[in-house]
Amino acid sequence: MNDAVLETCDPPAGVEFETFSALRRGMKFLLANPFANHIPARIVRWLLRVTRSQLAAANWEDPGGWQSMVISYNADCTQIADKVLVSAGTMPTALRNRKRLAARLIADMVDASAAAAPDHSAHALCLGAGPGQIIGEALTLTDAPAHATLVDISSDAFDYGRKLAAERGLTDRMTFIQADVRDLDDFLDDPPHIVKMLGICEYLLDEEIVTIASAVAELMPDHGAIIFNSISKAHGTDRFFRRVFGLHMHHRTPEELCGLMARAGIGEFRVHAEPLGVYHVVVGRKAAHGGA
Ligand SMILES: C[S@@+](CC[C@H](N)C(=O)[O-])C[C@H]1O[C@@H](n2cnc3c(N)ncnc32)[C@H](O)[C@@H]1O
Repeated sequence: MNDAVLETCDPPAGVEFETFSALRRGMKFLLANPFANHIPARIVRWLLRVTRSQLAAANWEDPGGWQSMVISYNADCTQIADKVLVSAGTMPTALRNRKRLAARLIADMVDASAAAAPDHSAHALCLGAGPGQIIGEALTLTDAPAHATLVDISSDAFDYGRKLAAERGLTDRMTFIQADVRDLDDFLDDPPHIVKMLGICEYLLDEEIVTIASAVAELMPDHGAIIFNSISKAHGTDRFFRRVFGLHMHHRTPEELCGLMARAGIGEFRVHAEPLGVYHVVVGRKAAHGGA
């Protein structure tokens, strides 16, 4: 049963979203998506191999992993197949929207935290952080004191992450820990004011989400924030991703995901849609004394 209470919010001002014209949306719905979903997968895979698609290679090596995120975020591809997939594809575009939206929301939370306690540095715990592009962007959007702990199972995400942190002047404010987010108790002693679970719930089972959210809720102060995202099938190419990239995501509504978080003692959900309707970015709060 899902009794989580959600408040739908407008996106914060100043976030630059990418959108598609009505004509382009119509063409995708009527032509591009059915074509991508139903053309034999072995032909598409062959085409992507001969055109040396880096996005496809990244997904074949680690479906939905951090490298495919970086390719989608940076959108500076050299291969023609990637130029098409990354700049015109709904999913990579929605990913860039999600990153900008989430970075702004986190920066606003850091500002609010500094306003409430000017002497302390807000601590953001980023689970399945990849190289930390979202938290890195967030920390550059605010002058308020904050630091981050980035946890990822993949150590090579951190080689790139450290380089990015250095470029942004954030080296001293970002700590990288290679670990499985399911083993939170083993590595965390600095209580987080903000927990970030972006780009990870869609790869986790319901019970894994509840277990991880319960573990972080134990560590957070009352009213601490947790930011996470749901994903819908509005991208229109789930069959393509499954057959061609081997990408199996758990699509959940914001209500379903908040229902899981509520089981971990999280409430006061504020839901922000990115304009393509693929992702909803949600901020929840740890209920005082653990009750939602
Ligand atoms: C889709 S990427 C998202 C990266 C980043 N959060 C973002 O949204 O840009 C998912 C990340 O979660 C990491 N990951 C997956 N399962 C994990 C686990 N059990 N423990 C820690 N990291 C995990 C992967 O290595 C990958 O870097």
